[in-house]
Amino acid sequence: MCVCILVLSGDAVVYGQNTATVVIEANDDANGIFSLDSTQKPVEEGRTNNFYVLRDRGHFGNVTLYWQLFANDTPLEPHQEFLNTSGSTVFRTGEKTKPIVLEAISDKLPEFNEFYELRLMNISGGYPGEGGKLAEKNLNASVLIPFNDDPFGVFAIAPESLEREVAEDVLSELSHMVSRPWKT
Ligand SMILES: *[C@@H]1O[C@H](CO)[C@@H](O)[C@H](O)[C@H]1NC(C)=O
Ligand SMILES: *[C@@H]1O[C@H](CO)[C@@H](O)[C@H](O)[C@H]1NC(C)=O
Ligand SMILES: *[C@@H]1O[C@H](CO)[C@@H](O)[C@H](O)[C@H]1NC(C)=O
Ligand SMILES: *[C@@H]1O[C@H](CO)[C@@H](O)[C@H](O)[C@H]1NC(C)=O
Repeated sequence: MCVCILVLSGDAVVYGQNTATVVIEANDDANGIFSLDSTQKPVEEGRTNNFYVLRDRGHFGNVTLYWQLFANDTPLEPHQEFLNTSGSTVFRTGEKTKPIVLEAISDKLPEFNEFYELRLMNISGGYPGEGGKLAEKNLNASVLIPFNDDPFGVFAIAPESLEREVAEDVLSELSHMVSRPWKT
């Protein structure tokens, strides 16, 4: 990137003020090149997991990324297996990474491991103008819904309580945090 002094032309030239206008002349990639951390991750039924979009190079401008889940190259229908099967995430100026939060619907049926693919589809925004770009690779990630053999699969520990050490005296407290994310 180069920092340049804005050269005003004609009568608008400003003299005698203690201000200078500096224009940051953006290079081609000033709004960033966006890719997906392609590490395969599981999303257990009834739980969420984060898949990270990475902004490389510049970080100017507000840029919106659109994503979609696929199974065998076919886009998932809304609410098929996941709470949201497509969506968008917004990077504000300065933000370099943002999660796509996937939540797998608990369907209570025993099944095999199921594989899906998360893809970055589209991009819009940037400053000035439409400057955000998708990377040429790393636009997809493999998403696994692991085999669920829990016959009481409608119950799940709230994610924020998973890290807790369990001592007997907190068991009753923990039981308050057992959530039922999906109606029975
Ligand atoms: C980006 O979004 C923020 C918050 O919505 C807004 O305040 C800011 O003006 C936007 N910046 C640009 C360059 O559009
Ligand atoms: C699903 O999408 C809705 C609206 O489109 C949004 O409010 C909600 O935060 C999304 N949920 C997740 C887990 O991303
Ligand atoms: C997404 O891409 C399609 C073409 O592939 C284009 O028609 C559409 O306007 C784009 N949407 C956004 C929000 O950029
Ligand atoms: C990502 O897409 C490429 C090309 O479409 C494909 O070869 C690759 O298997 C995909 N990776 C995942 C994890 O789905």
